Amino acid sequence: MTGLPWFAYRDGALCAEAVPLSRIAEAVGTPAYVYSTAALTDRYESLAKACADMPVLIAYATKANANLALLRHLGSLGAGADVVSGGELQLAMKAGIAPSKIIFAGVGKTREEMMLALKAGNTGIAQFNVESEPELHLLSEVASSLGVRAPVALRINPDVDAKTHKKITTGKAENKFGISYRRALEVYAEAARLPGLKVTGVHVHIGSQLLELAPFEQTFQLIAELVGELRAAGHDIRRVDLGGGLGIRYDDETAPDAADYAALLRRYIAPLNCEIALEPGRYLVGNAGLLLTRVNFVKRAEEKTFLILDAGMNDLVRPAMYEAFHRILPVKAPNSDAALAPVDIVGPVCETGDTFAEARPMPPVKHGEFLAILSAGAYSSSMASMYNARPLAPEVLVRGAEFAIVRRRPSIEDMTALEMPPTWRSEAKG
Ligand code: LLP
Repeated sequence: MTGLPWFAYRDGALCAEAVPLSRIAEAVGTPAYVYSTAALTDRYESLAKACADMPVLIAYATKANANLALLRHLGSLGAGADVVSGGELQLAMKAGIAPSKIIFAGVGKTREEMMLALKAGNTGIAQFNVESEPELHLLSEVASSLGVRAPVALRINPDVDAKTHKKITTGKAENKFGISYRRALEVYAEAARLPGLKVTGVHVHIGSQLLELAPFEQTFQLIAELVGELRAAGHDIRRVDLGGGLGIRYDDETAPDAADYAALLRRYIAPLNCEIALEPGRYLVGNAGLLLTRVNFVKRAEEKTFLILDAGMNDLVRPAMYEAFHRILPVKAPNSDAALAPVDIVGPVCETGDTFAEARPMPPVKHGEFLAILSAGAYSSSMASMYNARPLAPEVLVRGAEFAIVRRRPSIEDMTALEMPPTWRSEAKG
């Protein structure tokens, strides 16, 4: 059992919806990311339904997975986009997401990116989430040069512990993100004085993969108080953007329920009578995808047995980077009486960190067999690299009994397409 309805064993074979993964492996090769359309729809609808009685914009955090087919599908369901670069902004628009549903976050926006966002469509994007005073000044200057006023929310750092991995905690005072809660009124006053800005909202995002609701509750309470104070100071706050962070189940954790999360919104935020924006990434796509891989070798070393896969840390960096746990299942269902034995499951990349799992109890697996690394819909292909000159793994979208390649595997020509032999330019004058 996988615990995920979209990826289940049927007649002894692990399937994505109704397509056996072995069929995809044969057609596309491995490694390959496989996504389920039904899973994307289910996750989006579950959150949208939980919030249906409130004016909520679900602005999908594009960084989790920026494949255009996924973006298009989420967009068709009604999603907007949370983007953190000019590149993501252009991808969201290419996928047909209206600029009026796009929010631009990030601590280091450039002048060029601001320009792009202000000119998007004819109207510009819905909101800039601004993280510092120098950014406020630059945005005001760029907007003024275009004769417009940029809609702005300040990202508030509430100094709340999200109780998640330290590398993805963002709402503590020591993190680089946002403007301290204590200084919020002062910085809002400054924003209101700048000619190129229109203060419209408040933004907060305390971290990713939150498994408890308490940090959200603490944050929402603080934000509701702040909105009251900002309004009292004369700011027209129309949108509260609560970021992403809803955790998912990777192993046997209990992930928070969308309905319970929505209940917090209803309690603390809905009474403010403004638009609510959410920026879920992982929640929408994390469990909608897996990484399909082949066992290249079973290596019996002195102290342990290694399964050496054709997928590596360049395809899925989360275990190496965050000590993240991903379930790994054989594509061919093991016998129900198969004994489990501990193995290290590793990639082919030349680093010891290229390890997906250590001492993982697995049924007997032979070389040439396929494995599925689950929960690889979020922060997997979007964080992939071509390290070791390994091609990016292709991406496959499944819909019922059909599948489609939505990103092919690059050839060596594709991989070197941007390189060129040096044409030396001289600095010498005349
Ligand atoms: N909004 C902002 C401002 C963010 O920084 C993020 C994630 C999100 C929304 C979406 O968060 P989510 O709903 O996906 O938790 N690479 C890491 C996760 C990095 C998250 C960065 N920011 C990982 O693989 O766990």
